[in-house]
Amino acid sequence: MDHFLYRNGALHAEDVPVADIAAAAGTPFYCSSTATLERHFSLFEEALSPAQNLICYAVKANANLAVIATLARLGAGADIVSEGELRRALAAGVAPEKIVFAGVGKTPEEMRAALEVGVGQFNVESGEELEALNAVALSMGVRAPITLRVNPDVDPKTHAKISTGKSENKFGVPFDQAPNVYARAMAMPGIEVIGVAVHIGSQLTDLAPFEAAFERVAELTRRLRSDGVTIRRLDLGGGLGIPYQRVNEAPPLPFDYGALIKRTVGDLGAELVIEPGRLIVGNAGILVAKTIYRKQGADREFVIIDAAMNDLIRPAMYDSWHDIVPVVEPEAGAARLPVDVVGPICESSDVFAVQRDLPLIRPDDLIVFRSAGAYGAVMSSEYNSRPLVPEILVSGDRFEIIRARPTFDEMLKRDHIPDWVGRVDEADG
Ligand code: LLP
Repeated sequence: MDHFLYRNGALHAEDVPVADIAAAAGTPFYCSSTATLERHFSLFEEALSPAQNLICYAVKANANLAVIATLARLGAGADIVSEGELRRALAAGVAPEKIVFAGVGKTPEEMRAALEVGVGQFNVESGEELEALNAVALSMGVRAPITLRVNPDVDPKTHAKISTGKSENKFGVPFDQAPNVYARAMAMPGIEVIGVAVHIGSQLTDLAPFEAAFERVAELTRRLRSDGVTIRRLDLGGGLGIPYQRVNEAPPLPFDYGALIKRTVGDLGAELVIEPGRLIVGNAGILVAKTIYRKQGADREFVIIDAAMNDLIRPAMYDSWHDIVPVVEPEAGAARLPVDVVGPICESSDVFAVQRDLPLIRPDDLIVFRSAGAYGAVMSSEYNSRPLVPEILVSGDRFEIIRARPTFDEMLKRDHIPDWVGRVDEADG
């Protein structure tokens, strides 16, 4: 459930007409709903209760400070993968001990920054990284709390580009090597072993792969404990999928995911950490665009809009589907015609929907891409020198710009022409 609904024929974000935001902010823009963020976070809380748990929001899904702060206020921790995300989580008010630092390629500088503020957990992904973290921690006279991220070799049955739990993926320590790496970690004075971590992929629409992975985690935990390794935390990653197509899809509910967690690892008495991103922010956000032209092609009609692949890259990158709805509610029973919805960028991959049955959309009409709150704004760029898409947050009848669209002056000022290049108007001849 989300809070983007038609009222009196006009799409609203909570109590605010989307058209009012468009009039104030211009298009295209992203818009998130506070009420939906809160609801999704509470679904995970209810799902894991009463087990001792920490919900570390995966900042990569939507890294806006206002979004992180909204979740931090509810008690969320943060799953981060870079110093930039560390700084964002801290700036948004996440307590350092509630921060989990994941990622296969943490640099010594990033480790130092995280140790300086005292993050609660490093998810270490290799023996090599363990050595590096030990060295940095020793040089600072501290101990780094770690879990090893294990690779359970489970097929998450999701898009190949967002699968992480198979042995050919770059992620995690191979399952069979894990006991040896734990033994090495136990002998390192700069390392404090606290648990086991796993994350098998994103947009999972079936619980079976989670079950297989969590059972492997339980098996490893028992084995490690019998070897004398302290395992007091289990970090089960993120990955629960969301319905992108409202009519056809019904991915598992957080409640059932929570029940599965309790069934597979609940009896181990460990603190449970999860790292959800998409499920919290995905359906809490929309991308709003305006139609520029309707163009008649040789064999099809194109709706050309002012948003493009630089603003929302998921369809171009993962062939992903986003429901498209007009901001003015179509009449009941209005005719639908197949159109290609495309952006203005000079690439054939700048396509949002192919032969999608949509009600008539005219030039200047506003349209909305639903389920755009996760991996939307964060993956945007200024390709084709299009200003970075702005972000809006709604709460009840209020809305505010939480990231402004840069001006062209600001964009140009970031570049520098060296003196030795000179300027055409100064060049001889
Ligand atoms: N934890 C780790 C270690 C991760 O790598 C990820 C996502 C998450 C948690 C959060 O997963 P979620 O709950 O959001 O599924 N750009 C792609 C998704 C990439 C996901 C990367 N890792 C997309 O647009 O679908």
